[in-house]
Amino acid sequence: MIISASTDYRAAAQRRLPPFLFHYIDGGAYAEHTLKHNVSDLSDIALRQRILRNMSDLSLETELFGEKLAMPVALAPVGLTGMYARRGEVQAARAADSRGIPFTLSTVSVCPIEEVAPAIKRPMWFQLYVLRDRGFMRNALERAQAAGVTTLVFTVDMPVPGARYRDAHSGMSGPNAGMRRIGQAMTHPRWAWDVGLRGRPHDLGNISAYRGSPTGLEDYIGWLGSNFDPSISWKDLEWIREFWKGPMVIKGILDPDDARDAVRFGADGIVVSNHGGRQLDGVLSTARALPAIADAVQGDLKILADSGIRNGLDVVRMLALGADSVLLGRAFVYALAAQGEAGVANLLDLIAKEMRVAMTLTGARRIADISRDSLVNLA
Ligand code: GLV
Repeated sequence: MIISASTDYRAAAQRRLPPFLFHYIDGGAYAEHTLKHNVSDLSDIALRQRILRNMSDLSLETELFGEKLAMPVALAPVGLTGMYARRGEVQAARAADSRGIPFTLSTVSVCPIEEVAPAIKRPMWFQLYVLRDRGFMRNALERAQAAGVTTLVFTVDMPVPGARYRDAHSGMSGPNAGMRRIGQAMTHPRWAWDVGLRGRPHDLGNISAYRGSPTGLEDYIGWLGSNFDPSISWKDLEWIREFWKGPMVIKGILDPDDARDAVRFGADGIVVSNHGGRQLDGVLSTARALPAIADAVQGDLKILADSGIRNGLDVVRMLALGADSVLLGRAFVYALAAQGEAGVANLLDLIAKEMRVAMTLTGARRIADISRDSLVNLA
């Protein structure tokens, strides 16, 4: 039974998924210090309780990039979401749509842009990496535009891959990975029937569409690895800024100087993110990085934050630290793996409920009322 969004969906996902998939979403880079601190630094932040302030007409609504959001939450781009539930990107996008918030499709999704965008009423958001194959980037941008995508989320913290040791242990990568994954699927029959058999084709939909031939999951790490581009700099993003007329959000900022560069570049928003602790282990948690970034650029562009947010109280904490909105990654994938679209919709309902309680008891009637005054003793 799902009672707490933060812990129950994770446990349910672990029961249902073959270990290689559970650990791929659950794990981080190297010793996973940053992954742990993302969660613990955020949940350690003390909310400032206020009472008897007539909180009867509370609202979670907000606006972002010209869009109305039922709450300041969007679903983050997560690669291989379609391996966690049957045609998982479509299910997650529908859940987000039904709850009035944006869904961001990853470049390395199972379902391609053209399968997901028409399944929802809201305009979809799309995430792109900086890749060596500029032909693919241009093709993906053109297809996103044709599918009515509004907001482009540009991931910049992956010029090289962080080592995910758990993936090698779990069978996601490493020796005999293919055989190990088949063995794991056989011992997880509910997943094998629902996703393994009925969720096909299992390929990287956007890349297959570009290449004109299926790009299998075994190519996932290889394709990404050979396509990371360590030569990338702000200059390489200029053609994208010219090409993309809609809002452009730079994802993977952890330093106030980089946030200022994003303003100079003309970004409409940034995502303060350490990629969920999946890239450089040992960097600051986003809860600790965010306040200085907000001091540097608040008001110049929209600030989104991710990494470590597991429930509605965490959303309020991130907003109090200076975010305009948050992205949810692991939290929604656990719910999707456990219960599909209904699970993600239920998770979003739980988060909204938790936010209402946190706002009522911190005296914030509107999203804009949430500020550092909503916290105790922030140094
Ligand atoms: C891809 O972006 C990943 O974090 O695995």
